[in-house]
Amino acid sequence: MSAAAQPRLPIVVLISGNGSNLQTLIDAAARGELPVDIRAVISNRPAAYGLERARRAGIPAVVVNHGGYPGRAAFDAALQRAIDAHQPGLVVLAGFMRILTPEFVAHYHGRMLNVHPSLLPAFRGLDTHRRALEAGVKEHGVSIHFVTAELDGGPVVAQEKIPVLPGDDAESLAQRVQAAEHILYPRVIRWFAEGRLTLRENRAMLDGEPVKVLATNE
Ligand code: GAR
Repeated sequence: MSAAAQPRLPIVVLISGNGSNLQTLIDAAARGELPVDIRAVISNRPAAYGLERARRAGIPAVVVNHGGYPGRAAFDAALQRAIDAHQPGLVVLAGFMRILTPEFVAHYHGRMLNVHPSLLPAFRGLDTHRRALEAGVKEHGVSIHFVTAELDGGPVVAQEKIPVLPGDDAESLAQRVQAAEHILYPRVIRWFAEGRLTLRENRAMLDGEPVKVLATNE
């Protein structure tokens, strides 16, 4: 089947900042290597540079500013309305830096992915590169996982290791981790768009088999 004839999965991408992962999705889709239609990019921060990347690509760029809501539940409800207006088959968290309510997460069960800059279950939460260096680990990395109510705790779909090198600081490590994210995340989203990746009874399944990930297979 030619790329043009391939059905495209509607997705919505949530960001909070630079949007370099978003850019790799825009570029891969434009090259015909990722069968998705990015219906909207939504940021909780009005100044997120990723909004500019979306506009440049002709994608609706939407702000749902968390500062404008009285609490987490009200913000998540507004976010959900903004997402669902675009009827996505998949919600992609790409540097979206907000903790989500269990109700919101449940609504997108099995159709929301996140990229996290560590080898989960190690270093959930923020500041992963600095914490990895402080812990003296030899290997750091990136994880892609389905989102569940447990923060950075959903079933892992794919991981890539990044060796920690002598002289690394948080920035140099972050750069290499991000380079890996930019390859791994489009690949995983392509699996989902092709119907190969599903969440079944809290396990990530690829081609009908439980996925094998580094952290649990060594
Ligand atoms: C990425 O490195 C991603 O792994 C991280 O934010 C960065 C966003 O970069 N996400 C988290 O820390 C989620 N807890 P980007 O805006 O350039 O794609």
